[in-house]
Amino acid sequence: MKNITVIGSGTMGNGIAHTFAQNGFTVSLVDVNEAALQKALQTISGNLDRQINKGIIDDAAKASTLANIKTFTNVNDGAANADLVVEAATENRDIKLELFKQLSQVCRPETILASNTSSISITEIAAITAHPENVIGMHFMNPVPVMKLLEVIRGYATTNEVTNTVMELSRRLGKDPVEVNDYPGFVANRILMPMINEAIYTLYERVAGVSEIDTVMKLGMAHPMGPLQLADFIGLDVCLAILKVLQSGFGNPKYAPCPLLVNMVTAGHLGIKSGSGFYKYTAGSKELVVADKFTANAH
Ligand SMILES: NC(=O)c1ccc[n+]([C@@H]2O[C@H](COP(=O)([O-])OP(=O)(O)OC[C@H]3O[C@@H](n4cnc5c(N)ncnc54)[C@H](O)[C@@H]3O)[C@@H](O)[C@H]2O)c1
Repeated sequence: MKNITVIGSGTMGNGIAHTFAQNGFTVSLVDVNEAALQKALQTISGNLDRQINKGIIDDAAKASTLANIKTFTNVNDGAANADLVVEAATENRDIKLELFKQLSQVCRPETILASNTSSISITEIAAITAHPENVIGMHFMNPVPVMKLLEVIRGYATTNEVTNTVMELSRRLGKDPVEVNDYPGFVANRILMPMINEAIYTLYERVAGVSEIDTVMKLGMAHPMGPLQLADFIGLDVCLAILKVLQSGFGNPKYAPCPLLVNMVTAGHLGIKSGSGFYKYTAGSKELVVADKFTANAH
């Protein structure tokens, strides 16, 4: 296992490329958007500087990490040589199915094809390839270079050998992998998203305000951030999409997204990425300010 191809150079793709490159792997980073590739290289360089300032790595490690990354705008060029592909493109079922069909044609039969999807079925993605036994989920957490967990998801056809290879590889990246089976939301989002949804219902029913709900969960449950702040961090559109996958995948109304979440996404209030969600975000400010919508009549 030496040549790793990472498809998609957004939030997750740049972190995944960073982590493999820092651990001595050769990384081909692929994105259809050249500007996204340039932005990813800048982000990786900035994050490596942060690691230097914290004394985690030295200047030589930064240089060798960057030297291990090559960029491509064409999937065939970037993936032909891969021992492992980690797909971290946009969370869209059609995009992923098309990509895996293409990867199945361009890669060697024994290449392991992994997806970082948060919610799309690994079994369905695998079924479109010629070798579904070599397809697996590698669900990294954000920010990838920092977070220890890697949820490794076995599709219906994934072999023990492929699973063991990916578990071992994850440990070489300094991660603590956990093996789970492929059902909607896997483990992480199946448990996290209903909690976030319940926090939004608690606000919607005016049981308490934004900062009160988050404070209860931070101080009472020792969570590093409250569920509403975490929802803003993940992206409210992403939370809504995952809840819909849980609702349709299990056919159980308990996963139905709170109407307030649906309204906020429809209005374009998506959390940090749009500048406003449950909190307001102004560039460079570390202070959390509750969004105007929730300051009045909170109780
Ligand atoms: N953001 C998170 O916190 C998080 C956490 C875990 C998993 N994920 C999953 O990771 C994946 C990526 O999420 P993200 O937040 O990094 O998204 P993002 O929007 O930041 O980046 C996606 C990138 O994929 C590129 N892309 C789209 N179609 C492509 C194609 N056909 N070929 C190559 N590149 C293509 C886009 O240009 C974009 O740069 C999703 O499946 C998401 O569910 C996200």
